[in-house]
Amino acid sequence: MKILKISYINFRNLKDKNINLSPGINLFVGKNGQGKTSIAEAMYFAATGKSFRTSKYSEIIKYNRLKSGCYIEYQDNLSDKSLSIKFNLEKKIYIYNKKNISYEDYYGKLNVVSFIPEDIELIVGSPSVRRRFFNSEISQSNENYFYNIRQYNKLLKLRNKYLKSRNLKDDMYHIYEQEFIKYGSLIIQKRVEYVKNISILLNLNYRKLFDDKKELNLNYSCFLGDIKKLELHEIQKKFKESIIKNYNREMKYGYSFVGPQKDDFVFFLNEKEAKSFSSQGEKKSIVFSLKLAELDMILKEKRENPVFIIDDLSSYFDKIRKDNIINFLVRRNIQVMITSTEKFKINSKNFNVCEGDVCYEDN
Ligand SMILES: Nc1ncnc2c1ncn2[C@@H]1O[C@H](COP(=O)(O)OP(=O)(O)O)[C@@H](O)[C@H]1O
Ligand SMILES: [Mg+2]
Repeated sequence: MKILKISYINFRNLKDKNINLSPGINLFVGKNGQGKTSIAEAMYFAATGKSFRTSKYSEIIKYNRLKSGCYIEYQDNLSDKSLSIKFNLEKKIYIYNKKNISYEDYYGKLNVVSFIPEDIELIVGSPSVRRRFFNSEISQSNENYFYNIRQYNKLLKLRNKYLKSRNLKDDMYHIYEQEFIKYGSLIIQKRVEYVKNISILLNLNYRKLFDDKKELNLNYSCFLGDIKKLELHEIQKKFKESIIKNYNREMKYGYSFVGPQKDDFVFFLNEKEAKSFSSQGEKKSIVFSLKLAELDMILKEKRENPVFIIDDLSSYFDKIRKDNIINFLVRRNIQVMITSTEKFKINSKNFNVCEGDVCYEDN
């Protein structure tokens, strides 16, 4: 998939523009505070309907303006398409090929993978950061998972309401509980499969790019314990048992102690947990390898490369790692958007970012 064009209005500090992009590497260079992350964010936002910086749309609107929007034309294996979002403080409109659609239909149309400095949180942050990440990544190429997560979250809310009111005698509660187990188990089953596949790719990428003497592993830590070899009906059974076991606790505190909203994903480098034992440089390399593995997973599921957006490559890695990464990307048939404070000697379409103005630079 390739983004051919992007335009935006009142997006952060960016001056309204219409930009043609190269299907290869696009490089956005500028000093700090000029709008590099904003242009990367605009591309990610138009593609996914989400920002990688904030969950609040209101922060994106240029100061002292009332509405904002962006529009992209892109290409997949089949044809040229367009996506756009228009929003103000009250309303968001999602448009695909000039027709209004729901956010649920918008998400997943154009696949992108982003890599931003804050992604280090995927290693050092709380489990909720990793759950959010894996949920959106699996959802990106798997509509069923996206649906199951949404159903599950609704049921979790309902279940917590029942637990809070201690009203478990209601017939509806038992119907909801069955559904809760059903969707929860489907989520667990998909997470097992996804982690198994991505873990192999993760290790391959890490060794290829950063250190061929280390072994990188990703482990799915499910609230049910070791369920890797279980069939769906066995997961459901264990889930039910866990609900029975936690009955007193859940009634006492009035919310759910069980369910995949308690899961975590743990990285191990040479069998040591990366969060506690890996160096800063290793952590960054792990996250980058994870993003490359994600590209591979999307390619596998969708049979097309997603667009890769890398924010602030220059400040994130040392020279050797940077060169390895650039060489690796140049060899792949993938569209890449890189922002950086310095230029690289590569074959790329170059843009200068200055005071929010993004300008094509003829080299
Ligand atoms: N909603 C907004 N409206 C206008 N300016 C904004 C908005 N949000 C952030 N900014 C400003 O945009 C500028 C550029 O930010 P950013 O894209 O992060 O720069 P860079 O990545 O080049 O360092 C910053 O000075 C920031 O304060
Ligand atoms: Mg930045």
